[in-house]
Amino acid sequence: MNSEAPQPLVLFMPSGKRGHFPIGTPVLDAARSLGVYVESVCGGRATCGRCQIEIQEGNFAKHKIVSSLDHISSKGPKEERYERVRGLPEGRRLSCSCTVQGDLVVDVPQDTVINAQVVRKAATDRVIERNPSVQMCYVEVDEPDMHKPLGDLDRLKAVLEKDWGWKDLQVAPYLLTEVQKILRKEGWGVTAAIYRDAESARPLMIALYPGLKNEAYGIACDIGSTTIAMHLVSLLSGRIVASSGTSNPQIRFGEDLMSRVSYVMMNPDGREAMTKAVREAVNTLIGKVCEEGGVDRHDILDAVFVANPIMHHLFLGIDPTELGQAPFALAVSSALQLWAHEIDIDINRGARLYTLPCIAGHVGADAAGATLSEGPYRQDKMMLLVDVGTNAEIILGNRKRVVAASSPTGPAFEGAEISSGQRAAPGAIERVRIDPETLEPKYRIIGVDKWSDEPGFEEAAAATGVTGICGSAIIEIIAEMYLTGIISENGVVDGALSARSPRIFQSGRTYSYLLRDGEPKITVTQNDVRAIQLGKAALYAGVKLLMEKQGIEHVDMIRFAGAFGSFIDPKYAMVLGLIPDCDLAEVKAVGNAAGTGALMALLNRDHRRDIEQTVRKVEKIETALEPSFQRIFIDAMAIPNKVDAFPHLSTVVTLPERKVLAEDEGNGEGHHPRRRSREERAARRQRG
Ligand code: FES
Repeated sequence: MNSEAPQPLVLFMPSGKRGHFPIGTPVLDAARSLGVYVESVCGGRATCGRCQIEIQEGNFAKHKIVSSLDHISSKGPKEERYERVRGLPEGRRLSCSCTVQGDLVVDVPQDTVINAQVVRKAATDRVIERNPSVQMCYVEVDEPDMHKPLGDLDRLKAVLEKDWGWKDLQVAPYLLTEVQKILRKEGWGVTAAIYRDAESARPLMIALYPGLKNEAYGIACDIGSTTIAMHLVSLLSGRIVASSGTSNPQIRFGEDLMSRVSYVMMNPDGREAMTKAVREAVNTLIGKVCEEGGVDRHDILDAVFVANPIMHHLFLGIDPTELGQAPFALAVSSALQLWAHEIDIDINRGARLYTLPCIAGHVGADAAGATLSEGPYRQDKMMLLVDVGTNAEIILGNRKRVVAASSPTGPAFEGAEISSGQRAAPGAIERVRIDPETLEPKYRIIGVDKWSDEPGFEEAAAATGVTGICGSAIIEIIAEMYLTGIISENGVVDGALSARSPRIFQSGRTYSYLLRDGEPKITVTQNDVRAIQLGKAALYAGVKLLMEKQGIEHVDMIRFAGAFGSFIDPKYAMVLGLIPDCDLAEVKAVGNAAGTGALMALLNRDHRRDIEQTVRKVEKIETALEPSFQRIFIDAMAIPNKVDAFPHLSTVVTLPERKVLAEDEGNGEGHHPRRRSREERAARRQRG
């Protein structure tokens, strides 16, 4: 019989990694040996305070651990000194200074909490476990000795290997001219910033500071065609220090992506001008988040960027012309590692920059970021992830297989090409209801809480006026017009209703719906309905093609990424047939998921490998080349759809009886031959 007592069991949370350790093992060492990331800058001198942990007390039956504060050593003089001088929050210990005395459950606090709550309160906060690419390492370097003529940098490297285990260390070339001055500034104590993007990569010293440098920051940035969004994050605690956004100044070269590609094609220095504009905007935004967070921009040592393929190329200075035409060839699709200064990003001289991989010519690093964030590939359920913009990026998959496509939805969802459309801004109509009896509308505008039929609305709206309809509201209006019978399933405004309500009026050869009489007059025209039908049919056709590839009839969950998705009501999106039928409880807006993905890749280098591998496996479908696209597109022009059923939706909304209008007649399947050919032309246009 073995008389030796078993070694204590230590479980680290939230990673769940566990192992047995001899009594007296420093908790920091136990964490390290299991690959649990616990920050440490001072190398266990109990001066940086970065290695804090918390002991969870209690009986953790599932893990067969009884964890108690008695199972950890009491505070020694170094830890007590730190507590006295710097203060330790209640319950926190310095893991470098306390040792294992019995079974323990150790909580490694993670400060990065993404508030994923965008629209509905039910969304949960998410914690990103940290394992950044940059590590700050304090060392005390031997002073020079005439009898041991080893260079200053060589002695620095030697001590970094001895104290921190950094073997075969590379040094950023710019440091060669700085190293002697820095070493002497604070009596040979220095903090080296070591960058290692992967466990197997050669470590690289990217910055060197005199004394103990207990700060290091990173930025995660999403460059969208309209907006650039950025988080500034402490790499040492994971805390999001500031988040901000700015509009993409490239808008002045063209509203949408294709017009920017055209600008490059037509103007010899167009690419250069757009690259300069976006880099300047990024630098200005860095200034803004740094000011907000009280951070020196030169303390930013790592940067992660996501963008759609055209923004990605322009940001990197690559001509995007090839992305403007089939076969939509990317200059580079894999993840990239650069020096930030190489592309004029003004942060620390040694800062690194990482871009997530692009999935395909129309499905970019932003979609990769959203995929990383929402993780269809991490679960069994079939998840549909859509980012609706002028070009919708669509990902569909689960643990077994992920497929991706893009669909040219056009600018209608952003309010463009809609007669009363506008971008989301104060004064824009964002919600609409239509009374099925009287056909009278009521609406809400951005910036005012009251509905238009409530007392005080006009006074509250006076400041901005009621200026137009934003993209998310257009979905709602068209869906409401369908639910109240104002338009047929083919999207035709029923002129006969003009006898019942002055809201329906003739304009030219078609009819329109008057949403608000006044200055400006806000109407929904037949052409507006058509523009939305084209956009929604393009999106739905893309989704449906991916469903066919997956061999599935329905999806289990739907995630809307992007600003547009945050404001649309899933019920109306489904009534319109923008998305396939699904349990409405499983349809959620996830906000800027691309930006969240960038943040994950910034704070945990393992996420970089994860998404790089995932993207390599994603199957890309070019919708325009699929023979069934035209058929699916034409069926999807109908509201919600000519052939597909919406059983989940039917449990919450009574869809109207099929209504055949004069213009719809003469067609056994509900399609007028003239319209069919028109829709076929539209389908062909969508396919480019
Ligand atoms: Fe610096 Fe523990 S490692 S205080």
